[in-house]
Amino acid sequence: MPRTTTALAAAATLAVGGLLLAAVTSQAGAAGTGLKTLAEAKGIYFGTALTQSNLSNSTLTAVAGAQFDMVTPGNEMKWDTTEPSNGSYNFGPGDAIVSFAQSHDMRVRGHNLVWHSQLPGWVNGLPSNQVQAAMEAHITTEATHYKGKLYAWDVVNEPFNEDGSLRQDAFYNAMGSGYLADALRTAHAADPNAKLYLNDYNIEGQNAKSDGMYRLVSQLKSQGVPIDGVGLESHFIVGQVPSSMRANMQRFTALGLDVAITELDDRIQLPANSSTLAQQATDYATVVNNCLAVSRCVGVSQWGVGDADSWIPGTFPGQGAATMYDNNYQPKPAYNSTATALGGSTTTTTTTPPPPPNSTCAVTDSVNAWNTGLTESITITNTGTAPINGWSLAFTLAGGQTVTSAWNASITPASGQVAAKNVGYNGSVAPGASVSFGFQATHTGNTSAPGDFTLNGTRCA
Ligand code: G3I
Repeated sequence: MPRTTTALAAAATLAVGGLLLAAVTSQAGAAGTGLKTLAEAKGIYFGTALTQSNLSNSTLTAVAGAQFDMVTPGNEMKWDTTEPSNGSYNFGPGDAIVSFAQSHDMRVRGHNLVWHSQLPGWVNGLPSNQVQAAMEAHITTEATHYKGKLYAWDVVNEPFNEDGSLRQDAFYNAMGSGYLADALRTAHAADPNAKLYLNDYNIEGQNAKSDGMYRLVSQLKSQGVPIDGVGLESHFIVGQVPSSMRANMQRFTALGLDVAITELDDRIQLPANSSTLAQQATDYATVVNNCLAVSRCVGVSQWGVGDADSWIPGTFPGQGAATMYDNNYQPKPAYNSTATALGGSTTTTTTTPPPPPNSTCAVTDSVNAWNTGLTESITITNTGTAPINGWSLAFTLAGGQTVTSAWNASITPASGQVAAKNVGYNGSVAPGASVSFGFQATHTGNTSAPGDFTLNGTRCA
């Protein structure tokens, strides 16, 4: 189904920068904001993989529920979980993911029905004349169990070798290339409304492997086999998003198929630094822009919510930091670039609170942020009746912010709880008068302004 844009006017003006006050922050966390809202306004979804163990991490689920509108179970619908021995099924873990998704207004991409990996040993041990019946029974039982609950199924996962030939797994060896059409037809019979996908990695750009996928799906379409889309996993290395990605997606959609970015991550040699994080931000924006530019690209899913949930460090030792959120679920530059690519504004909203009783000072500040840095301007007004002679303004910098230079004040230490002190020429502030200073800082994704200021030990408005 071609993309339709449902205009959500509010989303276009969503502020993704830090917000000054707790009261304002809670509005930003309310339902209807986040990547999903921006994505929906552009007619696509924004999803994440979730595993069953993720569901008991309340920080993670809060981010997932606020930011994403599509869930892919990381492992819970794979054959080794759902049919660990012949004919005995276990849908508990997958059901838990579906139930989380339903209670958070998220849709689900089923992943997956047929795959050479995470395949229980009994399937590989079958005599080849029994593999087709086992595959069909597995697909029918699982797709029937989830009938009506899933947006899509990855019916066959990773069927290709790098040279574009079909992988010689248990299914190919028993049935030849015909197993793909058979799997798709069997899934369609069980759940006619689910979008049926073939999904693979290293098929994002034009190369021998994506050529193989293109030949296969062209043939399946011409034979009337029920196939709706091609999933591009998109496990990238920072700085290496293929330049032919958009053209490659377009050749698939020209066949009358949808495409989806199904498992996005972008791995970095650890430790990440400001330049690799900035390149990652560029990469994420490139991928999102590619999807937005292709009318049948239905959505983007990241593989795991944050860096702590990613498969990368376990598989590629020394590499990681591959998602939009750091290990503490703080947004990284890639989050901001993704939100910006989706049409979000990076303008920071600041609001002045009502002054505390007996306050003798008021502070306003504004932040200007880019991928890895920010400048902040702060103005102190003497709202008392006595002159201020020498000032020290205490406030707390957001996590990951480090001051690199300051003007009209000296600031120590460079991060955490800091004190900004007057310099020689601006220590005296008469009643009703103001003094301004500022600083430049680096950040790792959190561009929030401080929310609380104390001048010479007294809290300011
Ligand atoms: O459940 C067992 C646990 O009992 C055991 O103690 C532990 C010891 O190693 O292993 C656990 O199983 C692990 C499983 O994830 C569940 O956590 C497997 O070892 C581990 O290999 C498996 O990794 C999964 C991987 O697929 C397998 O290929 C990753 O979590 C999962 O994120 C990853 O996802 C795949 C997509 O399905 C397809 N595309 C590539 C993507 C990344 O590899």
